[in-house]
Amino acid sequence: MESFTHTAKDKRGLYEEVLPQIESLISGEEDLVANLANVAAVLKEAFGFFWVGFYLVRENTASETGINPEQTSTLVLGPFQGPLACTRIKYGRGVCGSAWAQRKTLVVPDVDAFPGHIACSSASRSEIVVPLILPDGTVLGVLDIDSDKLSTFDATDAEFLERLANTICKNVK
Ligand code: SME
Repeated sequence: MESFTHTAKDKRGLYEEVLPQIESLISGEEDLVANLANVAAVLKEAFGFFWVGFYLVRENTASETGINPEQTSTLVLGPFQGPLACTRIKYGRGVCGSAWAQRKTLVVPDVDAFPGHIACSSASRSEIVVPLILPDGTVLGVLDIDSDKLSTFDATDAEFLERLANTICKNVK
């Protein structure tokens, strides 16, 4: 795929146009970082989101291992599009760490109303985080999308982004 096309005006129409193109792009490439980088780029370009990116579950180094010895891993920033972001997020912390711990999509209409929200940028007003769960049940990471407007995300975003997360995970070798 050299480029992608998008003409729909409404959100559902846009997802219906863009997702099959992303799915075809991913299915032709095995490398996870390359695929995540292109997914972030396409979502940013198609929807104009403020920040689109991935955090991946990584093993902690000994010095980073927290008080809870059961938590030996952390989220580390992966491919993204948008302004500079926090590099590490602990299990259960912020929207990303909560979506990881709860293994479910979190839609946050107003980040200031989410206890423990991590403000990587003061311009971020609403957010959706979708966990990437591998077929064996392991959480690979999360897809995080931020908007500079309140209440940007709803059940339509959750539906299509979960489908996308599933496609990404099924393609991981
Ligand atoms: N707001 C997120 C942190 C990541 S940035 O938004 C890119 C959170 O609370 O987990």
